[in-house]
Amino acid sequence: MLWQARCFHASILKTHSSGLSRIRRTLATALHFYQNRQLDLYASKQAHRLTLRQLVFFGRHMNEERLIKSANYVRTELPVRIAHRIRDLQSLPYVVVTQPEVAKVYELYWSAFDKFRLFPQITNLSENQTFCDFLENILDEHAPVIPSLALGLSLCSPHLPPDSLDSFMNRMFISRISRRVLAEHHLALSKTLDHNSLDSEDPHVGIIYTGLDVKRSIEKCANLLRDRFYNIEDDNEEAVPNRGWPKVIIEGQLDTRFAYIREHLEYILFELLKNAMRATGLEHKHATFLPPIYATIVAGEDDVGIRISDRGGGLSSNSIESPSDLFSFSYIRNATRIQDGKIGALRSASSRGVKATVAEQIGGWQVVKAGRDQHDKDPERGAGIAPHQRMGLGLPMSNIFATYFGGSLQLVSLDGWGTDAYLRLPRLGTNLEGIEV
Ligand code: COI
Repeated sequence: MLWQARCFHASILKTHSSGLSRIRRTLATALHFYQNRQLDLYASKQAHRLTLRQLVFFGRHMNEERLIKSANYVRTELPVRIAHRIRDLQSLPYVVVTQPEVAKVYELYWSAFDKFRLFPQITNLSENQTFCDFLENILDEHAPVIPSLALGLSLCSPHLPPDSLDSFMNRMFISRISRRVLAEHHLALSKTLDHNSLDSEDPHVGIIYTGLDVKRSIEKCANLLRDRFYNIEDDNEEAVPNRGWPKVIIEGQLDTRFAYIREHLEYILFELLKNAMRATGLEHKHATFLPPIYATIVAGEDDVGIRISDRGGGLSSNSIESPSDLFSFSYIRNATRIQDGKIGALRSASSRGVKATVAEQIGGWQVVKAGRDQHDKDPERGAGIAPHQRMGLGLPMSNIFATYFGGSLQLVSLDGWGTDAYLRLPRLGTNLEGIEV
């Protein structure tokens, strides 16, 4: 019916040039009325939230029947989740939802909602392949969502109290992570069936690593950062070959392994280590020796704890009242949101929306596309990190990644000395995804 309405709309516009805008308005109203009824229908459904363990159990013994079931779950679940977020966008003040960056995301979501809703049922492997191609395209299309929303909402800070703005952003991003996890898990399961191979050295089911080695991930991120030089003087990322990075000393329960999405863990670790290194470099600008950063791993009964401690002088600053303000997207709470450099970086990532942006990578299972070998040669991509982008999204996004399956991230500053970041991730995989997916 939507399609018919559109054809009718198009043909009537061709034949009648007079009174065009009146007709256009009438039809647009009819179309929106129809679309809104569809939206109501989907938004009234509950999302079927999953646990990490369910994703692993279901994906463990893949066969054609299970894969088709997985495809149809993704096909029917995603429009429900998107509908909830369209409703959320609609409840924003008019001045916010019409902000060009926010409006762009609103349009993208409507279009994705329609495409999923109209996608026919999948009944065999060849239809699944068409669905996978569709998923890959739509994942690409949504590349600019994170910088667009972060930019749009940061600029709209005066129109929303910081708590409302941040809880809106948390819902939007948790939900986005959840949709990309489902889509990418399905893509990975489809590849698994294609190649009929499960890597025994690095066991994983879909996008979940069942024995993720925490120490190895820390080392990977630290090495990646060490290879990158940073001009501390100018606060610019440029090659300064003589200046190294502080050492990262890993201690605690070094053999800790658990089931998790590697890209999510490594995104967070990379950001925390990057901040720790940068703060240490700045604090000890003129020293010849940089105090090391300690990464401590503890495997508790229910969760895995990782503490990153630096001697970078702490987080004291006139512009923030509490370390958790650094997770905020509102410039009322965190004035650095509207620094020129960040706004510029967000603007370009938002308009490019290409693969090199954080947005494209977040929640991204690039291993599937790039191939497993590529992941280790280019772990940064796999870790979901875009090089040399200072958009101010690292900490808020790390916080959101940490909470997706019920974990947490906390920053504790000892002003004048250093910062401890405490990351806790559930290790049993029994927590449901965030409540508002
Ligand atoms: C997003 O990336 O914003 C999405 O909603 C992805 C989904 C359409 C697969």
